[in-house]
Amino acid sequence: MSFDVHDLRQRFPAIRQSNALFFDGPAGTQVPDVVVEAVSRGLVEAASNVGGEFPASHRSGRVVDAARAAAADLVGGSPDEIVFGPNMTTLTMAFSRAVVSGFEPGDRIVVSGIDHDANVTTWTRAAADFGVEVDWIELADEHVQLDLDSLARVLTERTRLVAIAGASNAFGTLTDLRRVVEIVRPSGAKLFVDAVHLAPHERIDVRSLGVDAVVCSGYKFYGPHVGVLWAHRDWLDGVRPYKVRPAPADAPGKFETGTPSFALLAGLTAAIDHLASLGRGSTRRERLDGAFAEIRSHEASMGHRFLSQLPENVTVWGMPSMEGRVPTFAIDVDGRSPSEVAARLGRQEICVWAGHYYAVEPMRRLGLLDSGGLTRIGFVNTTTAAEVDRLLEVLAEL
Ligand SMILES: Cc1ncc(COP(=O)(O)O)c(C=O)c1O
Repeated sequence: MSFDVHDLRQRFPAIRQSNALFFDGPAGTQVPDVVVEAVSRGLVEAASNVGGEFPASHRSGRVVDAARAAAADLVGGSPDEIVFGPNMTTLTMAFSRAVVSGFEPGDRIVVSGIDHDANVTTWTRAAADFGVEVDWIELADEHVQLDLDSLARVLTERTRLVAIAGASNAFGTLTDLRRVVEIVRPSGAKLFVDAVHLAPHERIDVRSLGVDAVVCSGYKFYGPHVGVLWAHRDWLDGVRPYKVRPAPADAPGKFETGTPSFALLAGLTAAIDHLASLGRGSTRRERLDGAFAEIRSHEASMGHRFLSQLPENVTVWGMPSMEGRVPTFAIDVDGRSPSEVAARLGRQEICVWAGHYYAVEPMRRLGLLDSGGLTRIGFVNTTTAAEVDRLLEVLAEL
């Protein structure tokens, strides 16, 4: 391992200062000192707006440029293909509307039965408004994964776009994106990937994957609340966004409504540099490659520890091993409702989530939407074996 998890935890003020077990990473991770410092420095050094002819404004401009370069390194694209927004949902709501407004009535889009609603209703609402038809990728019978054959079946020559999750924020299931690309490419449809739940766990390389867009969210990978959209330059150039007249005419600025938080962008760069610092190499991209290899191996070992010692009163929905998943577990505890489990764990400062976590479609398909959903436990790269053991102990006692 190039990082020692106990040393790594020392970088996080919230972890240092409390006894909490932060298993709520899927809803938002804690941030390291470097991010706190970068945001605070950003508020001092980059408070002026961009576009002015004076040093303080130039500093803000440099903060934005640095954040685009960092985000491009995180996903493998170019800085001029990076669009920032307040969060993934707001970015996708605006992008989906702009994209679908360019489709013809009778065109079709495909959304998935495993996705967070931020990658479903954003598209289906726009589709309804512009006379575009919606098809669905269904769940396979086992382990809460997508049935990609159902994707192949619904594609037609009118399909213009497929919106799909890279990883499920509820069940942790990974989507086989390479297979998705193989299926979708011949149709000519654009492929838009919600990578919010993928980004903290897996290295993303948009060019080698061959997708058209990915979107992620800084606060899920140890950064501040900033949404990041990458899309192919050609696609960005061809879409007409909803914008005010004086805003930039060209991408990426034409998609960025109003003034961003420069301080949070400084924090985003710091979060990506923090991740890169977990790997080795001469460029940030190389360091990120190495960092994610280490992250994957550490998280897989924590996940395996959890799955292999599950108490008898606990059932995990989804993939039964660490194969094809990230360490996000939706569980059922015999005789206890998810909200009861979350409250009992919460009283011991074990931070977990109960309900559907906006994963409306899979919960509905599994018949869990109206019965309170499931309890969600998320491990991240700061999770330790002692924390997993403590969780198992407390679950067994429930
Ligand atoms: C998979 C997934 N997609 C989208 C979102 C929405 O992200 P944001 O809060 O940045 O709008 C979330 C948030 O939980 C998520 O987990």
